[in-house]
Amino acid sequence: MKKGRLVVVSNRLPVTLCGSPEEPEFKSSPGGLATGLRTYFDHKIQESPDWEGVWLGWTGQEVATDSQPAVEELLCQNHNCIPIHLSREESESFYHGFCNTTLWPLFHYFYVYANFDAAQWAAYVRVNEIFAAQIAKVITEDDTVWIHDYQLMPLPALLRRQFPRLRIGFFLHIPFPAYEIFRILPQGWQRVLMEGVFGADLIGFHTHDYAQNFLRCSLRILGLEHRLGLVQLPARSVKVDTFPMGIDFEHYSKLSGSEGVERERRRLRVSLGDRRIVVSVDRLDYTKGILQRLEAYEQFLAACPELRSEVVLVLVVVPSREGVAEYDRMKASIDQKVGAINGSYGSLAWTPIVYHYRSLDPEQLSAIYSVSDVALVTPLRDGMNLVAKEFLASHNDELGVLVLSTMAGAAAELGEAIIVNPNDRMEVALGIRDALTMPEEAKRKRCRALRRRLGTYNVVRWADDFLEGLSEAIDETCNFERNRIAGGRLDELVAAFATARTRLILTDYDGTLVGFSEDPLQAVPSTRLLEILGRLSSLPETHVALVSGRLRQTLETWLGDLPVGLVAEHGAYIKQVGSDWRLAVDVQAEWKNKLRPVFQHWADRLAGSFVEEKDFSLVWHYRASHPDLGNQRALELVDELTQFTANIEVQILTGNKVVEARSQHINKGLSVREFNGIYQPDFIMAIGDDWTDEDLFRASPPNAWTVKVGTGGSAARFRVKDYTETLQILETLGKIPNPEPLISETISGTADVFPN
Ligand code: UDP
Ligand code: G6P
Repeated sequence: MKKGRLVVVSNRLPVTLCGSPEEPEFKSSPGGLATGLRTYFDHKIQESPDWEGVWLGWTGQEVATDSQPAVEELLCQNHNCIPIHLSREESESFYHGFCNTTLWPLFHYFYVYANFDAAQWAAYVRVNEIFAAQIAKVITEDDTVWIHDYQLMPLPALLRRQFPRLRIGFFLHIPFPAYEIFRILPQGWQRVLMEGVFGADLIGFHTHDYAQNFLRCSLRILGLEHRLGLVQLPARSVKVDTFPMGIDFEHYSKLSGSEGVERERRRLRVSLGDRRIVVSVDRLDYTKGILQRLEAYEQFLAACPELRSEVVLVLVVVPSREGVAEYDRMKASIDQKVGAINGSYGSLAWTPIVYHYRSLDPEQLSAIYSVSDVALVTPLRDGMNLVAKEFLASHNDELGVLVLSTMAGAAAELGEAIIVNPNDRMEVALGIRDALTMPEEAKRKRCRALRRRLGTYNVVRWADDFLEGLSEAIDETCNFERNRIAGGRLDELVAAFATARTRLILTDYDGTLVGFSEDPLQAVPSTRLLEILGRLSSLPETHVALVSGRLRQTLETWLGDLPVGLVAEHGAYIKQVGSDWRLAVDVQAEWKNKLRPVFQHWADRLAGSFVEEKDFSLVWHYRASHPDLGNQRALELVDELTQFTANIEVQILTGNKVVEARSQHINKGLSVREFNGIYQPDFIMAIGDDWTDEDLFRASPPNAWTVKVGTGGSAARFRVKDYTETLQILETLGKIPNPEPLISETISGTADVFPN
């Protein structure tokens, strides 16, 4: 396999198998995902002969083992596709089952239609594993894998497990619902879906609202915070961003001006007469609001008798997901409603609705878009909706009027359309009337503005932007990897430690040597940690100090028996081995009397939060509180504190689920200077996980081994993933009793490189 290709993965390939497996034929797959990405592939291939892309997905039906090679060859040669074969049972439970009767209705807010079936869930996970196994066979770590849509949410994490350095993007083409809806899913499923998507480096959505919903679910379900959409995992960064999908504007515009389409338009004119045409094109889907649209059209006919017989609605419904009960029922209701409207309002000379239940080829579609005066696009909920955009792109006369549902993702971009609420039938009816009676100049003004935007942000731009965003997201992670203490760099650290005359290790406690607990007093040191610290500090010429924000008493109780230095309250108090606690700086803390009631007020307002008082700081902890509300209240508290502290010497700090007010001039950097002055070490290591440790890093000499635990910006030179990695490293260092003999044991073959 060649290096550096774009590997697109979606449930459905851009072409679907039809005809018999013995004589396979392929037709274009329905839906915006297939249309959009197919265009991107074609464009890239035309633009550059060196570009390489391949698309993996399901063929749409079971292919017998004997017929698979022939199907695979055709797909590879003619479409750049590699099929993933699923048995009928697998696709039944996965595709018709979990995808289209659980995730699809739930994510579109039709939760009453959602089915929660454990066997279908198991099939969903199994099929994602089948995808992962097939993909693994054909990719290298140099490829970029772009996974699409709700059918494949667990897939990014499955691939990440096998390929830790693979570039993985994920894009969701449907809405991501609010947490209140997502949490209807059983908890175990919620986690697998969320963790699955977090296997990607970049997660894309059509609109800002969907991205926000997703980030909120990340916080509520996985406890992951974000900063401007950047989520820091222990060893990777993941970016969550918005990329509204466009269309191939130029193609639709050109096609509409072609001779074939002109012929098709003339044919349509002959059959529809010179009436004004309202067009409606969708896959058969309850989310598209076709039935509600028909009711609104009926209201329009009733409310506007003067326009009635001048208008015809061309209703194109593209067959989709046949066999899913809700879709079959929907089809029957639409058939009935069309019959009823035509029966009530039609005459021998006029049929109000011309109904097609089939898919159209591109020229027919372009002709119907461009011959129509108005497009009625009124989904009840839709991730984006490309039909709305294609209609506008096909109107080179700039006279097409779009009536668009506020519930479509496209409404966020297409503000010049007549925006309606599909649940308000009269509003839609009046929208149709306004569209039909709009003066030509107003039509042109709106249409032109919309077309200009669509022409600029087309589907190629969309995909290129996404892939560029992916590279940027990966840079963040690479930065972490480049500086991580592992492999050769760990050997270097061990060697530097082993060959030093005097060594000093300054380490933070919470998040650096132990994990976080809801109750800070539960974060007691483990026996292993005590052993590691004991061992290290008993090495000759090796000095260890714990530099913490904690109270003196806590440090004393937990670590007082060890021969280590202790620094409490972020540097306010220092205790050298064998001495008493000493105040490191001369500061006042009268301000606490003023701020104490403010802190207490906020603790009373938020369940699960509490105030901790230290000699030189007040801390509001909210780890055990509702995460969203906690973050919100933290912002409010900081805002209030900032007003109170304008004229006093206090710093307000926000940390890991804490807000702290602290006397100015106290910081962890003070302890670096003190220990450094006493021991004059030629090896210094400073380790910490949050921003209070940045003072530790900044105060360390430039050649010190400054180590940040986790991702995110830092002045530290090096990184480790989490506190368990810190422990491993300290454990390794603790096993070096004295320099010379151990170098050869620890790093074989390198002893001569590091002379005494
Ligand atoms: N489409 C099609 N054949 C048809 C009618 C429509 O391929 O007979 C295409 C249409 O051009 C559009 C896509 O199907 O690109 C529908 O995408 P949209 O985003 O509007 O809705 P989705 O089906 O993805 O929910
Ligand atoms: C929407 C979904 C796609 C899906 C398409 C057609 O656009 O976002 O993932 O492929 O509908 O649906 P189908 O079930 O036929 O693949």
